[in-house]
Amino acid sequence: MKKNVINVGLLGLGTVGSGVVKILLEHKDSISRKINAHLLIKSILVRSFGKERDLVIDRELLVNEPIKIINDPEIDIVVEVLGGVEPARTIILKAIENGKHIVTANKELMANYGKEILEAADQFGVDVYFEASVGGGIPIIHPLKESLAANKISKVMGIVNGTTNYILTKMAEDGCSFEKALKQAQALGYAEKDPKADIEGEDAAAKIAILASIAFNARVTAKDVYTEGVSKITFEDITYAEELDYVIKLIALAKDDGNGIDVRVHPAMIPKTHPLASVKDVYNAIFVEGDSVGEVMFFGKGAGSLPTASSIVGDMIDIARNLQQGRSGIIGCTCFEQKRIKSINEITSCYYLLMDVIDQPGVLAKIAKAFGDHKVSINSVIQKQSRGINADLMFMTHQVCESNLRDAIKEIKRLAVVNKINNVIRVETS
Ligand SMILES: NC(=O)c1ccc[n+]([C@@H]2O[C@H](COP(=O)([O-])OP(=O)(O)OC[C@H]3O[C@@H](n4cnc5c(N)ncnc54)[C@H](OP(=O)(O)O)[C@@H]3O)[C@@H](O)[C@H]2O)c1
Repeated sequence: MKKNVINVGLLGLGTVGSGVVKILLEHKDSISRKINAHLLIKSILVRSFGKERDLVIDRELLVNEPIKIINDPEIDIVVEVLGGVEPARTIILKAIENGKHIVTANKELMANYGKEILEAADQFGVDVYFEASVGGGIPIIHPLKESLAANKISKVMGIVNGTTNYILTKMAEDGCSFEKALKQAQALGYAEKDPKADIEGEDAAAKIAILASIAFNARVTAKDVYTEGVSKITFEDITYAEELDYVIKLIALAKDDGNGIDVRVHPAMIPKTHPLASVKDVYNAIFVEGDSVGEVMFFGKGAGSLPTASSIVGDMIDIARNLQQGRSGIIGCTCFEQKRIKSINEITSCYYLLMDVIDQPGVLAKIAKAFGDHKVSINSVIQKQSRGINADLMFMTHQVCESNLRDAIKEIKRLAVVNKINNVIRVETS
């Protein structure tokens, strides 16, 4: 039976929760027309009643016990924007058991406990939508599950963390150090006080785990993702990349070649001509390759109150439409295949290496021999700077297996003529 009112329980009224309330108020009439019912927030879970909030809210709606939402028989949809694994996981599982449909923006939860949550949703016949968990306001989960479902997806590659993209953009454009760019990002509210999850790649790892699971129809968790952050990137690396017509980005990448899933997050040099190279500041973009569609790219604001809330309210509208049609649990879990996750040693890539060496005849030959002994073929080598008795040497390799490169590096580090390997960065050529 069609409803006149669809009641929502909102868990959390922070950055994203406030955006959800704003959109529902501002677009109240048009949303009602789209679903033929009123989408009404009945209760909001918060931690502190006394906290000053940016938006005017009826205080009567606020509760501080989740049970008041998940046990309320009038609530149809529970929207979770608390963040973190617990208590979000326990509350969501209980809400599902009570027949509530779920919308969540929680990447950490979906990347680690997605299987448990989607199986529970299937068991109790409810919808769980999580568009906002990857790419904020960018639609990517629905397109992968629906519009691109006809394809065999071979690759998903994206810039999915706005904080690190802002830092790398500032380093490239203003010539500043990593530390200075991070401070700027914090001052502008783009980076948390504790920025570890962003700069060490953990946030991006959770997001690519979710995307890989959907793209390749196989469960990938955050723990499966090989992860390196951006804190070791220097202004020198960025300058040398620029000279070679590359930019450095924190790339989240997942590939399926039929022989296992290669899934990783790390800084990578990408050609300036690649569509992801022009994604700057806090913007995000996700590039997908499918056998029928070819290459498609999704671009937009990957975080922020209203962009993220846009995805959440979109999910709420989808669920409301399902409710009005008497349907539910339509998409559900799409991970029906078992696939092996490749180790980082199995991947092949081109590499950039910057070395601090002693500036004397024969050095290059010794390094080239170590590379050659491990089947690492050098594409180019440039002597960058001479500093008295020392010099910087920059190498670019051809495609090589990572385990061979690692063995070569071990040997090169033992050479008396090599002071230090400053950095090694993978180069994504396509
Ligand atoms: N911020 C973004 O741009 C963005 C983008 C994409 C996805 N997300 C995801 O969206 C979720 C929410 O992020 P946010 O930035 O909105 O977080 P936030 O600003 O920290 O807000 C969290 C809200 O949840 C409430 N809360 C947290 N733990 C609670 C508990 N145990 N009991 C009751 N209330 C609790 C807080 O209550 P009080 O207000 O009383 O403290 C606050 O209202 C996270 O999963 C995040 O990863 C965020």
